Amino acid sequence: MVQQVRAVVATAVKEPVTVEVIDVPDPGPGEALVQVQACGVCHTDLHYREGGVNDEFPFLLGHEAAGVVEAVGPDVTDVSPGDFVILNWRAVCGDCRSCRRGRPWYCFATHNATRKMTLSGVPLSPALGIGAFAEKTLVAAGQCTQVSPAVRPEVAGLLGCGVMAGLGAAMHTGEVGPGDSVAVFGCGGVGDAAIAGARLAGASTIIAVDLDPRKLELARIFGATHVVDASATDPVEAIRELTDGHGADVCVEAVGNPNVFEQAFYARDLAGTVVQVGVPNPEMRIDLPMIDFFGRGGRLKPSWYGDCLPSRDFPLLVDLHLQGRLPLELFVTETIDLTQVEEAFHKMERGEVLRSVVVFA
Ligand SMILES: NC(=O)c1ccc[n+]([C@@H]2O[C@H](COP(=O)([O-])OP(=O)(O)OC[C@H]3O[C@@H](n4cnc5c(N)ncnc54)[C@H](O)[C@@H]3O)[C@@H](O)[C@H]2O)c1
Ligand SMILES: [Zn+2]
Ligand SMILES: [Zn+2]
Repeated sequence: MVQQVRAVVATAVKEPVTVEVIDVPDPGPGEALVQVQACGVCHTDLHYREGGVNDEFPFLLGHEAAGVVEAVGPDVTDVSPGDFVILNWRAVCGDCRSCRRGRPWYCFATHNATRKMTLSGVPLSPALGIGAFAEKTLVAAGQCTQVSPAVRPEVAGLLGCGVMAGLGAAMHTGEVGPGDSVAVFGCGGVGDAAIAGARLAGASTIIAVDLDPRKLELARIFGATHVVDASATDPVEAIRELTDGHGADVCVEAVGNPNVFEQAFYARDLAGTVVQVGVPNPEMRIDLPMIDFFGRGGRLKPSWYGDCLPSRDFPLLVDLHLQGRLPLELFVTETIDLTQVEEAFHKMERGEVLRSVVVFA
């Protein structure tokens, strides 16, 4: 039976998002219907609205979510109605060329629901195959990762995208280890998670870089040992000074800006690593002397979703949180309702929030 639910939709490029009543079908084979309890507002939702991802409007936004499975399709055995789950955008296929080589975190054929949610009969494009600014959403069963229900939904949901992307950028892609020096450029939800990940991994020096002093104060709470205000200071020089003139072992770019990428590139020690987690738009270009690329050695690594494996990482990170070792609750600046997503985008642009999280009554 098709159900009608309220949801946030971006109907046209750069137009304010609106709350609409959409149609959600029953789960088909391999699918799950999830009653969403909370969904964070991520910068990537805004990228969709701005036309920066693709032009497949209308988008059903929202993708950092936790909720309870309401129903599953025939043949689904991994999750059951009543399970508390975090939604993920990496339901690995197990069968593509990357999965077969034992690298499922790069899976090239991740699963999404095949049945369509619709608005007035028009198929919606769910953000990152999730679409969770909705009272209920339809996903592939593999997009549901069961975790302890002891964690609050508005906290758990954040692991579904930005916080996992940042933690994993440091821990998995950057392979930060004990004693490393790390610089993180951009201290929004993603960058602060990279800082928290660097701390968990044992980094000794963690340098936070942002243009906004409010963001730098928050970065200290997540574990930054030093902060650099890039609006007043050259971050490359500042990072070199803080690392005995050498540069950081790992630089994480969490803005999505070619100038910041260049800063991260040059603020890195010889043989160091740059991790690119900020999402560029299609117009951006990088222009670097090739001799510097070669001569400095090391690694330049894009990080999609922090190279995470949801089934491995979500339960583990929830446990660390419940033990008091990962302060995920600090990412939640405010809880809002569905009608306030557009306003939350503006707060994000003004730098007032780490995460606004839609909570469903
Ligand atoms: N790769 C992935 O898997 C993945 C997942 C989620 C989000 N993202 C991307 O990560 C990026 C950050 O997301 P967010 O939600 O933290 O966004 P955000 O807007 O909350 O944070 C961005 C931060 O960068 C700072 N900033 C802007 N320009 C800067 C500059 N020139 N130098 C230093 N700091 C600067 C801002 O002040 C802000 O604090 C976005 O591009 C988002 O799309 C990537
Ligand atoms: Zn695969
Ligand atoms: Zn996101």
